[in-house]
Amino acid sequence: MSVLVFGSANIDETYTVSHMVARGETLAATAVTRRSGGKGLNQAIAFARAGAEVCFAGMVGTDGQFLLEELVAAGVDVTRVRVLPDERTGVAVIQNDTAGDNCILLYGGANRRMTPAYVREVLDACRPGDLVVLQNEINLPGEIIEGALERGLRVAVNPSPMDEAVPVDLLERVDYLLVNEVEASQLLGPDMPSGDTWADVAQALGSCFPQTTIALTLGGEGSMLIRDGAVVVRQPALSHEVVDTTAAGDTFTGYLLTALERGDAPETAMRLAATASAITVSRPGAAPSIPLLAECEALPEK
Ligand code: RIB
Repeated sequence: MSVLVFGSANIDETYTVSHMVARGETLAATAVTRRSGGKGLNQAIAFARAGAEVCFAGMVGTDGQFLLEELVAAGVDVTRVRVLPDERTGVAVIQNDTAGDNCILLYGGANRRMTPAYVREVLDACRPGDLVVLQNEINLPGEIIEGALERGLRVAVNPSPMDEAVPVDLLERVDYLLVNEVEASQLLGPDMPSGDTWADVAQALGSCFPQTTIALTLGGEGSMLIRDGAVVVRQPALSHEVVDTTAAGDTFTGYLLTALERGDAPETAMRLAATASAITVSRPGAAPSIPLLAECEALPEK
């Protein structure tokens, strides 16, 4: 399998705080770090560490060289990346509190400089059967999905962070959709079942996108895999120490799709994705916290 992750690369500035800063409050952070992140970069690294052949396409500024070095060190092909001399790399300012939760302020920078010509050039270089994976931290997501579908490529969409740029009308034609509980409710809109269980939400997603394999992640409540409109796996969350939840969803995406694409049984693939995410949240940071496949396999069953 060959995967093209078309997405964002960010410099993550993470501040360790006792609680999320409130409106009008000045809060002293106890630590600050500068590490690699961005949903696209994190997912590319998760695919590579899970064992997939992966290429990353996106844009950074000249200040983003260390992000490319991290991708290369993980085994990701970066030959399609553009380095822009006149734009800074995307930045995520992250507060990470004592519960391991985060809130994120994004500056898109180079991530917002995709052009139709660049999209065409990247997609034209794909081979039939390749899987194109994207999130919603770059501009032109609709053009990328449409261009990939027109070329007969397979497509996986993680519409995160969800906003009006997500081309909802195209999602029923993609192969995979990966959403958390917030994105599920935004996607379903008036079709979101009220006051019901997650099984009902999964069912509603399955009815809206019957041709698509859907992963619904629910944080501490685990995850569900939906195929042909029905829930086929209910994976409980695995208990692990929570230090920093950043990149948990990105890890899940890379590991789940790698396992499904190489033909693992859905239960095996979901368990592997849950294990990898549990390791990610037990470590600080985004990309650097994503485990190798060998670490997931070595983790004792809980
Ligand atoms: O999904 C986690 C990522 O979201 C972080 O690495 C940060 O860059 C934001 O884009």
